[in-house]
Amino acid sequence: MAFTGKRILIGVSGGIAAYKAAELARRLVSGGARVKVVMTRAAQEFVTPLTFQALTGEKAATAMFGPGSEPLEHIALGQEVDAIVLAPATANLMGKMAAGIGDDLLTTILLASTKPILICPAMNCEMWANPAVQDNVVKLRDRGLEVLHPEAGELACGAIGYGRLPEVETILEALAQLLSPQDLAGRRILVTAGPTHEDLDPVRFLTNRSSGKQGYALAKVARRRGAEVCLISGPSHLPAPHGVERLEVRTAREMLDAVLARFPESEALLMAAAVGDYHPTSRSEHKMKRGSPELTVHLTQNPDILKEVAALKKKQVVVGFAAETRDLEAAARKKLEDKGLDLIVANQVNRPDSGFAVDTNEVTIIGRKNLLLPLPLLSKEEVAEKVLDQVAALLPPPR
Ligand code: CTP
Repeated sequence: MAFTGKRILIGVSGGIAAYKAAELARRLVSGGARVKVVMTRAAQEFVTPLTFQALTGEKAATAMFGPGSEPLEHIALGQEVDAIVLAPATANLMGKMAAGIGDDLLTTILLASTKPILICPAMNCEMWANPAVQDNVVKLRDRGLEVLHPEAGELACGAIGYGRLPEVETILEALAQLLSPQDLAGRRILVTAGPTHEDLDPVRFLTNRSSGKQGYALAKVARRRGAEVCLISGPSHLPAPHGVERLEVRTAREMLDAVLARFPESEALLMAAAVGDYHPTSRSEHKMKRGSPELTVHLTQNPDILKEVAALKKKQVVVGFAAETRDLEAAARKKLEDKGLDLIVANQVNRPDSGFAVDTNEVTIIGRKNLLLPLPLLSKEEVAEKVLDQVAALLPPPR
């Protein structure tokens, strides 16, 4: 997990979105992080230090001086963490940061810290649009700090526009990226995910049990490690991962077209989609009526996307996935050879905790030159990390 064993400091400044920092703290703690909260005086008008103490198990720090404050806390706190996230960051806080002001515990910690800082602004939309605030955002970004764009919507003051604190999920993903090694920085990675739908008539289709979770995890983790990711997805209920370009397709033939269009500019293809092998030979224009007791449907084979694309490969790393219910290793190795792949990720799909629609997967990564890497039962994100480690090792040096 991205946050296991990480020490995160959440700086909370005084805006109505301060209450959302409580959810952020909770999610980080449940993701395995140790969280320390530092609040400005104004933040305490919106939410109490006790809320954060209850969620993180650590006293929230609120002041440089006075009871409960530790000498030199303003230096130590910012140095002993792995990253700092400011949520919400008010216009005032960003203004002080841009000007180098340290007039309370949080701003002093920020001046004394050399750790990565993620700024999550939230304010009234006119304030966000104010040139003084925008100048400060540019200054902070120029210094290498990560400033998220506030989201659009209805604000607490009733106005509609950009100013909402980004969703907790977006903040977590941006923070995970800040903490991840950037070993795939700028690498162009193409991922496919999900099932395909092959239409019988306007309301019915043939599909399979794939949820898209493993492919989406690959896209998310590759992005986290700095890659430029294009995700070609069959129908899936999953949200597009933060920072990933998603192209939505339905059928195997649409997926083939999308993969062929994007493959030449890609450096690696991870074909995690569960592509339907057949489509109905004819698609009824109108909804088929219930008729005789038996119905025969004729099917025509779909193109083998991986095989077609692997034949066009120049320097790309091409990875297939093999869903098997028996003879896992032998069947997967055969697909590796037949389809001309660099790697194949084999998984046993007839187990309740591995394969389709669950959050865990037990896979074996098989490659050329006798690579055989059986992995224990892992989360799909952890599987993605392992697969991408192998891809990173095979990628030629960046141009
Ligand atoms: N695949 C593909 N095009 C297809 C079918 C599969 O590109 N028409 C890809 C899948 O995305 C996966 C790999 O091929 O990466 C293996 O898929 P799998 O369904 O296990 O293999 P098949 O070649 O379809 O073989 P079989 O169904 O007979 O096991």
